[in-house]
Amino acid sequence: MSRSHLALVLLACTPLAAQSLRDLADQRSLRFGAAVNPSRFSESDYATTLGREFNQVTAEYVMKFEPTHPGPTTYSFTQADSIVTFARARNMAVRGHAFVWHISNPRWLTTGNYTPEQLSDILQDHIKTVGGHFAGRVYAWDVVNEAFNDNGSLRSTIWYDGPGIGLKGTEYIEQAFRWAHEADPKALLFYNDYSAEGLNAKSNAIYEMARDFVTRGVPIHGIGLQAHFTANIGSIANIESNIRRITELGLQAHITELDVRVAVDSSGRATDAVLATQAQIYNNIVTSCLKFPLCTSIQTWGFTDKYSWIPGSFPGLGAALEFDANYAPKPAYNAMLNALRDSPPVIPANGLVNAANYTGDAVSPGEIVTLFGANYGQPTLVIAGADANLRLPTNFAETRLLFDGVAAPILYTQAGLTSAAVPYSVSGATTAQVQYEFRGKRSNAITVKVVPAHPGVFTLDSRGQGAGAILDLSHRVVNEQNAAAKGAYIQIFATGGGMTRPSSADGLIASAAPIPELIAPVSVTIGGIDCAVQYAGGASGLVAGGVQINALVDSRVPSGLQPLVVTVGGAASQPGVTVWVK
Ligand code: XIL
Repeated sequence: MSRSHLALVLLACTPLAAQSLRDLADQRSLRFGAAVNPSRFSESDYATTLGREFNQVTAEYVMKFEPTHPGPTTYSFTQADSIVTFARARNMAVRGHAFVWHISNPRWLTTGNYTPEQLSDILQDHIKTVGGHFAGRVYAWDVVNEAFNDNGSLRSTIWYDGPGIGLKGTEYIEQAFRWAHEADPKALLFYNDYSAEGLNAKSNAIYEMARDFVTRGVPIHGIGLQAHFTANIGSIANIESNIRRITELGLQAHITELDVRVAVDSSGRATDAVLATQAQIYNNIVTSCLKFPLCTSIQTWGFTDKYSWIPGSFPGLGAALEFDANYAPKPAYNAMLNALRDSPPVIPANGLVNAANYTGDAVSPGEIVTLFGANYGQPTLVIAGADANLRLPTNFAETRLLFDGVAAPILYTQAGLTSAAVPYSVSGATTAQVQYEFRGKRSNAITVKVVPAHPGVFTLDSRGQGAGAILDLSHRVVNEQNAAAKGAYIQIFATGGGMTRPSSADGLIASAAPIPELIAPVSVTIGGIDCAVQYAGGASGLVAGGVQINALVDSRVPSGLQPLVVTVGGAASQPGVTVWVK
């Protein structure tokens, strides 16, 4: 047996490295994180476990008001910056916590007897300075933390009414969000709270505030559910109803501080039975989050029982996290792994769009489409190639996209993003059931409308607007420097042209005559002027469903940047596509 053959045999015998929480979270395009204390980074087990198991970190303490703003005019970021450094070295995201809270405020602030106007200036300076310092390095912030009481009223705090910043009701919360958005316009901004995971007076008050903010365009992007649980977490259905109503506002839901405190003995140990109950809760929460594509992050508050805030805050309780005090995985760890591995993918009802113009109102036979939002797939982008018969695969990278059960040829895929060509078998139907499948696990089905043609013109910026993907007859890109000449032909690239003659084969890369041409009538206008269409159909090197249209730039077309519209069977391509004419 040759050495290389032996190596292959050994490799085949070696069990696949167990997938970590991070590996599976990456396949879910889910940010899976833990609250950390940077003073523990020098402990190798602490740092190694973090880098292996998580793709996100948050500061348990060092990004709060007290540690970052130790004096009226002094800020300190050394500890907090070390979290950013640690994370960037391990390609981890950093989630910020928290600008506004009633705890962890410095004595100079709480004993300063400031007026509301002074407090307003202090808070604005704080948010702008801290948010500005981390801009581009912290992707999301808990802007305001724990501002509501359990009965849904606003908590009495220095920021609200003690004496507050001069605003009434939730206006101080709104103001904090506006300052945070000014400090870092790209950061996602969250309101964060505890005991508001299910349906109750507190979560109702938070939801009503969020709905008001969304309605009035206040820069809010999500709600953080702390998820500090005991063994009795109440109704999972209610938690899912709460996540559903949050995400139906278009907001993201983050599980921000998950831990499940349980009864422990004097040495901090919990019984196997209690740990099994705890594991089921961890599994339930991850499973529930994965039902909602807009539930985009899960964090545990710490990750090892060696360092948890629970024993000091809840005497008699502990063992709340997924790793024990020796960094060994507990049943809760495996329960989360199982949920990440076994939960079916979910796709959003509006996730399937034309790959050229991103319109999702319908699909047509052969149309190249893109599915956004499937929350299970390859962790990084994989691009399909044609087989020996020049066909793209319909089962690629463990992924399939099914239209009424027919697998579509796939162009590329990764978790959250898959492009494929609609099977021609949808022709004649008025709707199609679309399902996504990864590793044999099928998603929910979404219903899409089917029309004969649904043209979209590809654009140079891949955003469906602006300069069209157009070549001149020398195959040079048409742009301002190389405008299309009147009286000359241009080649326009599109999709959504519908059925062809001869009929097209799903996923076939066109190579030899006869290359299928569109059946439906095709017209082109540039600057509102009809331009003769010489050819409309497949093209050598394009997958079936890709359309090339050769049109003659009419002499009446005005010079300069002109709108271009392709019409197929009476259906027009998207507005906003242009072409330079000279
Ligand atoms: C706690 C930390 O875990 C402690 O180390 C710190 O001393 C106080 O804050 N809800 C929150 C967190 O939003 O910021 C709190 O974290 C736990 C409750």
